[in-house]
Amino acid sequence: MPHFSSHPSQSLQPRGAVEKQRPSGDAAEANHWRIEDIPLEQIEIDAIAHHEDLFYLLMSASFIETGSDTYAANLAEHYRDYPDIAAWLQDRWENEELQHGTALRRYVEAVWPDFPWQRAYDSFFGEYSKLCTVEELHPDRHLEMVARCVVETGTTAYYHTLRELSDEPVLRKLLGHIRNDEVGHYKHFLKYFKELQERSPVSRTRIAGTLYARLKELRESDSDVALRHVFAHRGNYFADSDRRFADIAQRAYQLVSTQLPADLAVRMLLKPLLLPQRLESCLYAPIARFATRVMAP
Ligand SMILES: [Fe+2]
Ligand SMILES: [Fe+2]
Repeated sequence: MPHFSSHPSQSLQPRGAVEKQRPSGDAAEANHWRIEDIPLEQIEIDAIAHHEDLFYLLMSASFIETGSDTYAANLAEHYRDYPDIAAWLQDRWENEELQHGTALRRYVEAVWPDFPWQRAYDSFFGEYSKLCTVEELHPDRHLEMVARCVVETGTTAYYHTLRELSDEPVLRKLLGHIRNDEVGHYKHFLKYFKELQERSPVSRTRIAGTLYARLKELRESDSDVALRHVFAHRGNYFADSDRRFADIAQRAYQLVSTQLPADLAVRMLLKPLLLPQRLESCLYAPIARFATRVMAP
């Protein structure tokens, strides 16, 4: 975790307790990678421009990450009784997700300059913003943290896959940074979840139910909406490809889901159950099989 080494150090305080001063610009923030660190002028265009899968997957990711502020505002509102969580969501999480959006946008615009990014994004956002409502969040704030762990596991697997698919050095560097951030987000959500559990535990059955429900939802997730708008605005890019939209969506899904049962992802999915170490080891193989089945196209 070279770029995201901090963990939330303050314990949770419900509203009504004395609010702590938020640390402004802590060490981890100062060490965090910057968009200027990505040498866009060094992109090896020939190594990436022809890559149809990455065209769709990177464009979609740039849309979803750029739209994160809507989601972040809703989440922060959901945790308004926990000022430390709300502050982290707004000060760090949202900024990092938006940084992912900006960096990815700059990259895809450098590689595919004729793609009408803003126009395509606006049409995407018109649809996407209606999906991001507070009602979409789990009403139980413990269990919403479990759902966030699943989502961050999914994004970690997504960027891991994209990085594996790519030979282009600048892209590999960028995707490495983003993947590390997503693991960092997961660690924060897990830590907050554990702190909430200490205060008033919810049962393992309910945790497992949330894990299962959210894992299934990854199937029909936001990336389908994004892919559709990328496809509709692709113009002459990959115009001679005979793939229809359904083929592209299916292929994108297959590429990403086959990575999900990878070692790291399964371990990440098991952690919120807070099982004793020995039990966790016993459950590893069955959960890996289960995740493969749920995610299988
Ligand atoms: Fe992100
Ligand atoms: Fe994230």
